[in-house]
Parts: sequence; structure tokens; C-alpha cells
Amino acid sequence: MATSHSTLPASRNLVLTFLRSIRARLTPIRVAIKRRMPQGLYARSLMIFITPMVILQGVVAYVFMERHWELVTERLSQGVARDIAAIIEVYEKYPQADDNALLTQIANTRLGLTISFIPGDALPPAGPKPFFGLLDRALSRQITAHVGRPYWIDTVGRSNLVEIRIKLDNSVMRVLARRSQTYASNSHIFIVWMVGTSLVLIAVSLLFLRNQIRPIQRLAEAADSFGKGREVRHFRPRGAREVRQAAAAFIGMRGRIERQIEARTTMLAGVSHDLRTILTRFKLQLALLGDKPEVEDLLADVDEMQHMLEDYLAFARGDQAEQAVCGDISGLLEDVRAHAEMQGKTASLNLSGDMEVTARMGALKRCIANLVDNAVKFAGTVEISAHHRGSLLTIMVEDDGPGIPEDKREAVFRPFYRLDDARNQDKRGTGLGLAIAQDIARGHGGEITLGDSRLGGLQVRMTIPV
Ligand SMILES: Nc1ncnc2c1ncn2[C@@H]1O[C@H](COP(=O)(O)OP(=O)(O)OP(=O)(O)O)[C@@H](O)[C@H]1O
Ligand SMILES: [Mg+2]
Repeated sequence: MATSHSTLPASRNLVLTFLRSIRARLTPIRVAIKRRMPQGLYARSLMIFITPMVILQGVVAYVFMERHWELVTERLSQGVARDIAAIIEVYEKYPQADDNALLTQIANTRLGLTISFIPGDALPPAGPKPFFGLLDRALSRQITAHVGRPYWIDTVGRSNLVEIRIKLDNSVMRVLARRSQTYASNSHIFIVWMVGTSLVLIAVSLLFLRNQIRPIQRLAEAADSFGKGREVRHFRPRGAREVRQAAAAFIGMRGRIERQIEARTTMLAGVSHDLRTILTRFKLQLALLGDKPEVEDLLADVDEMQHMLEDYLAFARGDQAEQAVCGDISGLLEDVRAHAEMQGKTASLNLSGDMEVTARMGALKRCIANLVDNAVKFAGTVEISAHHRGSLLTIMVEDDGPGIPEDKREAVFRPFYRLDDARNQDKRGTGLGLAIAQDIARGHGGEITLGDSRLGGLQVRMTIPV
């Protein structure tokens, strides 16, 4: 008993190690298969449908054809071999006076075999074996069984005839039989039907699958657009029940999120507005107190608070109310650059292409100003460039500051999000600048992305279709 207790965990460990090693060996194969698998739902569903069909048909065809062919060919060959055996027996037992004319004629009309007798006793050397040797093998077996004499057969070639030579006592009998007499040759019709119906089935399922998958694609597109802050137009639940449920759930979720945002912005706008009124009163009262240093500090603080409130308000309001107009943006860009220089930074502006575009000018200026503001805050040199080609306007703001680490480049677009490190400790801000800028870019159907600048700091790239 003691031995069996101690060997049990050992053997289990052995099995586990063995299984683990098999799994480790299979992992690269699994990865390779996964990589080669089609990625889309359409292609995958097709594969799920077509693979079993092809395997089933292949197995059925192979098993059935193999059995059918072999059996029928064997039976047919047997018939021919028996006929030949009978002719040989008549030939040998009843020698013919008319040079075998009657025998030849009976063989021809009654048995469908063309026979002739060649004097001499040599058989030709064996010919090449056919690739599909089914007929060759069956005929050889049946001649050996029923005739039992040396023979030579030729089943190769495209002709409709099969040639058989049998060595007799002092001559060789040559028999020509039709290939169809010995061989089940029309089975390919079965394959043609099978492949044909499969193709029709695949075509029908292609059509059906397409219609099933389109609503899923639409739902994915709608969710993607909503996530990017774009308007989702003409989206209705369609397709199979489960897809419609998912679409309805998405629409419900979108409504809830929109209501939540609306409630938040309304509240923010209300609070900011009320506070602004009080701040204005503060300022007035401070102005009445005169030019003391404490008052100046207080005024600076009130200014900063007011700036923050402006940010809140701008964010809460959004800039959707403004109408897009056609105008030159070079003046607007120059203003932003000059503002950066006024704060003691090196700022350059580089324009290429037509600067006459259609946009919400106020919003666009605010957006670019926010980007340049950040660069001014964190760096010494700012490069602004605008590039218009085709229907795309690209505005880039680059700086030589500390940049933003790659894993934070998504988060900084969130409202009130500020990088929590040394650089922000003495910098003022509410964390709304980039959120507002992205909002404005998306409001124009564009996008802002962050990257590394060749100046060493951050590169902000805004692209908008104009
Ligand atoms: N050019 C930049 N270089 C380095 N860090 C940056 C740069 N621009 C933005 N950041 C980082 O991203 C954060 C978010 O920027 P955002 O403009 O949204 O807020 P903020 O500048 O802190 O405040 P606000 O713009 O509302 O006054 C910043 O706090 C800062 O940490
Ligand atoms: Mg900012």
C-alpha cells in the first residue's frame, strides 16, 4: 500500500509534464494556424460552412467511388475473361476447318469481342503500367482466374479499346474489347453533379451570409463613430434578433451617455456663470482698494480663477453653435504665434498651400491657441505649421519641451486630466485644453494625434477635412 501511495503523485507528475511538453510543442503550430486564419466574420463563417461540406463530400466521394468503381470493374472484367475462356475452349476442343471464321464471327456479333489468331508463340514485352491501375489489376486477376494461361494486356492509351493477348499451344489469340465492356467509366458524372450542387449551395450561402453580417458591420461602425464623438446618422436595428438586440442596447446606451453629458455640461455652465459674476464683483472691489502689493497678488489670483472659469464655460458650451465660414486662416495663425512670442518664447510659423478654408473660425482659433498655449507652458521653442493639400488641412504644433510619454497620449485628451509629475507642479491649468481642442477638431470631422517632435518635445498634429 505504501508503495502505491508514493508512486501515485509521481506518475501524475509524469503525465502532467508529458502533457505540458506536448502543449508547448503544439503552441507554435496553434499560433501559426491562428495567424493564417481569416480575421473577418464573413470569411470565418464561410469557412465554418464550407470546410465540413468539403470534408463530407470528399469522404463520401472517396468511399463510394472506390467501392463502386472497384466492384463494377471487377464484375465487368470477369465477364470478359469468362467469354475469352469459353472461346479458347471451343477453339481447342472443336478445331475449325474454315480458318476460325465462324468462331470469329460469333465472338464479334454475340460477345462484342474482335478476335484473331496470330501464328507463333511470342507475347510482346510488358508495356508501361497505367497510373490508375484499377482496370489493369482487375482484368489481370480475372484472366488469371478464368483463363489460366500466359497473357499480355494493354489498357493504356486514350482509345476506346482494350487489347488482350493469350498464349495458346501454338499460336497467340488477340482479343480487342471495348473499354466500356470492362470498366465502369462514367462515374465522373457523379463527381460533376456533386461539385456543381456544392457550388450552387456556396453561392446561395454567400448571399445569405452577406446580408447577416452587414448589420453587425453597421453596428460596429456606429459604435466607432460615437466613440470618436462623431454624429451617427440613419442607424436603425436590423438583421437577426441577437444583432437587433445589440443595436437596441447600443442606442439605449448612447441616449443615456448623451443625457449624462448634457446634465453635466448644464450644471457646469450654471456654476461657472454664477461664479464669474461674483469674480467680476471681486475685481471691482479690489480695484477700489488701490495699488498695494497684497491687492496685486489677489488680483492675479482672481485673474487665474477667471481664466479657469472661461475654460469650464467653453468646454461646457461646446462650439457647435458657431457657423462655418470661408476665410483665410493665416491671420489667425499669426495672432497665435505673436501671442506666444509675447510670452517670451521663440515661435515660428510655416504655411504651405491655400489658406482659404471653410471652418468655424472662432473655434479653430481657440483650438490652435490651446495647443500653442501648452507648448509655451512646457517649452522654449514653438513651431507652428499649416499645410493644405487636396481637401485636407494639417496644422502642426511642435515644441522642444519634455513631450508626453506614449502610454499617456490617449489619457491627456480626457477632461481635467493633467500629467501628475514634476513638470506640472508650478504650471497652472485645468486639464481642459486638449479635451476642448479634440472636441473642436472632431466637430470639424477631423482628429488630433500626438507624437514625438524632431525638436525633442511634443508634436501635435491636427488634420481636418476642409
Ligand atoms: N506640449 C506639451 N508638452 C508636454 N506636456 C504637455 C504638452 N501639452 C500638454 N501636456 C500635458 O498634457 C496635460 C493636459 O493638457 P491640457 O492642455 O488638456 O491641460 P492643461 O494644459 O494642464 O490645462 P488647460 O489647458 O486647461 O489650462 C497637461 O497637464 C500636460 O501635463
Ligand atoms: Mg493646456
